[in-house]
Amino acid sequence: MKPLTSFVFIISLLQSLLVHGSGRYHHQTSSNNILEDSSSIFPSDFLFGTASSAYQYEGAFSTDGKSLNNWDVFTHENPGKILDENNGDIAVDQYHRFMEDIQSMNFLGVNSYRFSISWSRVLPRGRFGEINYSGIKYYNILIDALISRGIKPFVTLNHFDYPHELENRFQSWLEPEMQIEFGYLADLCFKHFGNRVKYWTTLNEPNQQVILGYVTGLFPPSRCSSPYGNCTRGNSENEPFIAAHNMILAHAKAVNIYQTKYQKEQKGSIGIVVQTSWFEPISDSNADKEAAERAQSFYSNWILDPAIYGKYPKEMVNILGAALPQFSSNEVKNLKNSRADFIGVNHYTSYFIQDCLISTCNTGNGAYKAEGFALKLDRKGNVSIGELTDVVWQHIDPEGFHKMLNYLTDRYPNIPMFITENGFGDLQKPETTDKELLHDTKRIQYMSGYLEALQAAMRDGANVKGYFAWSLLDNFEWLYGYKLRFGLFHVDYTTLKRTPKQSASWYKNFIEDHVNRRGSAC
Ligand SMILES: *[C@@H]1O[C@H](CO)[C@@H](O)[C@H](O)[C@H]1NC(C)=O
Ligand SMILES: *[C@@H]1O[C@H](CO)[C@@H](O)[C@H](O)[C@H]1NC(C)=O
Ligand SMILES: *[C@@H]1O[C@H](CO)[C@@H](O)[C@H](O)[C@H]1NC(C)=O
Repeated sequence: MKPLTSFVFIISLLQSLLVHGSGRYHHQTSSNNILEDSSSIFPSDFLFGTASSAYQYEGAFSTDGKSLNNWDVFTHENPGKILDENNGDIAVDQYHRFMEDIQSMNFLGVNSYRFSISWSRVLPRGRFGEINYSGIKYYNILIDALISRGIKPFVTLNHFDYPHELENRFQSWLEPEMQIEFGYLADLCFKHFGNRVKYWTTLNEPNQQVILGYVTGLFPPSRCSSPYGNCTRGNSENEPFIAAHNMILAHAKAVNIYQTKYQKEQKGSIGIVVQTSWFEPISDSNADKEAAERAQSFYSNWILDPAIYGKYPKEMVNILGAALPQFSSNEVKNLKNSRADFIGVNHYTSYFIQDCLISTCNTGNGAYKAEGFALKLDRKGNVSIGELTDVVWQHIDPEGFHKMLNYLTDRYPNIPMFITENGFGDLQKPETTDKELLHDTKRIQYMSGYLEALQAAMRDGANVKGYFAWSLLDNFEWLYGYKLRFGLFHVDYTTLKRTPKQSASWYKNFIEDHVNRRGSAC
């Protein structure tokens, strides 16, 4: 270690102890680590980045030929379903402000940026219309600007938004035709951007998208049945499984196109992103332990088992019977032949799980058949799972993240993983001041705990290749509108001015510290 490096290291070490010395999880693990080995566990090609998505960031909802997508229509027709009755028409206007945002990334010292392609910008009518080259041009300029400033694009082909015409014409994900549409989008993106994009993911969180769109009906296309939700159409006990089936096959189709047509020349890799939560059995009973396993199977394994092994988890087969579509022998072969190169792991929270298959539960999140009869709870008596927050689903439990990564490593041995999202949301209340939002010590506590847990999992053998904080900026957080802020940078929604929060400096120091501790990398 060069003298300068060790000086910087000691300074940032002191800073990090000052900033998050009170974090219980951090304290336990880091003190040993520092005494025994000061070199960073993160290899020199590790990606540190921030994540975003088109609808939540771009705005410019009808600019340069972009058509309306499912989220444009949903938010325009049902403002009451969004906490602040707002929408992504402007969002954080990244479509026009991406150069400034790249400067913010350079401030952080990240080497990658995760963003998604707006389907209705490049193919306003899917395959029913022409390619829009204004959309292609936007992403070309964005990609070039990132690369010229040392930031590797990490591109999601689709993050929840699709041209509304595909919903109107054939009900989108409920029909196999959507697989062909998605393959067409994927091919177009590989063709135009693949010479510079080396990291692709197909779909963002099919599990979460399907649960919200077809089980509870809270997201478009607002389809569900009672008692899962209150919709005018849909069937919560079979449509989610059809939609997910089409998403899994669409994913495999895109991977197949990449691997057979582009990968050899473009030399990138391709994966899929799932939402994960750690599910802790609420008791030592076998029933609760099996329920926790079922909860995993009805969530991330639902998507990953087919993508990796070409079959659904046995817990889903057993409970759902005929409601779970089957893969034909040809599809099984295709799934296995087009195995993802890596998995993208989004992770925010943990729950206790209580069995509802053998025992009877009251109603609640997870209690029903389509959810695997595994009730999700945030408390066991007076003990909460991690620290509860203002956001009902976010419980701060870094140890759960550690367990989740070990679980994925056991289930999919050696598979490379990227943490494609992890972060903390501040729910803005009427009395919240900008000063409080900028002085975001809770976010720093959260990130330092989860990044310690990540390192612990890597020491245990998890093959993790990158970490993306959700999110670079405050942005349109779906049903929470602009009231739930996940940014390392604060956005003033009247001026769209970006201001670094304390967490931005914390993340910058964290990355700098690890780059310095690599020794040779600087
Ligand atoms: C593409 O966008 C331009 C505006 O930049 C618009 O004039 C044109 O009609 C669009 N083309 C297609 C095929 O959507
Ligand atoms: C269900 O939705 C309808 C229409 O949006 C509304 O009038 C009704 O009160 C809702 N019912 C429940 C139980 O929430
Ligand atoms: C939780 O409940 C148990 C038993 O009812 C009690 O002994 C314990 O002090 C309680 N803990 C807290 C933190 O309230």
